[in-house]
Amino acid sequence: MLRFAILGHKATTSPDFSLNDMPGGAGRMDVLCRCINSSFFLSHDLRRNTECYLILEGAEPHKTLRFSGETIRSLNPDERSAGALIKKGLSTPAEPEFRKAADGIAIRSGGLAELLQEFSFAVLDENGKDIRDAETLPENFILSDHMNFTEDEEALLKDLPRYSVGPRVLHADHTITVILNEFDRRERS
Ligand SMILES: C[S@@+](CC[C@H](N)C(=O)[O-])C[C@H]1O[C@@H](n2cnc3c(N)ncnc32)[C@H](O)[C@@H]1O
Repeated sequence: MLRFAILGHKATTSPDFSLNDMPGGAGRMDVLCRCINSSFFLSHDLRRNTECYLILEGAEPHKTLRFSGETIRSLNPDERSAGALIKKGLSTPAEPEFRKAADGIAIRSGGLAELLQEFSFAVLDENGKDIRDAETLPENFILSDHMNFTEDEEALLKDLPRYSVGPRVLHADHTITVILNEFDRRERS
């Protein structure tokens, strides 16, 4: 299983956002929608072996949404479709344990600290080790949205390995695409 976790620093934790204003009122939810799409979409197919976690930090308490490629339904490649599924996820009350909100979507309260206790993550960072030089690839990756990691987040992440997909700073969703491409190439060879 491959996992991508994206920190949404301003992303709302309420389902009452407008699909017409995801970059504004919803706190750059558009970035997170694109990360969902990059995690799952192939042409005319979905990657079933991938999970995408959205850590929503725009309000207290933080919430985490989990999207599972194996069971997700009704996801189409446009941002509004992913946004509608996020709204559905956020409509379910968040408790400390993940609770199913819909097929392939679960929600819980808590954020980065809780997720780090569950899996060993690698941080995606343009200054990290070149992923092409990694003999074996990690399977769980953390990215930031359009902002840098905060000092508190950096403190939580400081001991984790860091990998780069190249020297330029990319958008988070493009970084996910490059990582998945690296897995695809290695699988083929
Ligand atoms: C738009 S960047 C975040 C803001 C960025 N630090 C900046 O200066 O604009 C989104 C995220 O994608 C990941 N990322 C971007 N470029 C990368 C690269 N070349 N290698 C690895 N990860 C990268 C990082 O996790 C980064 O936090």
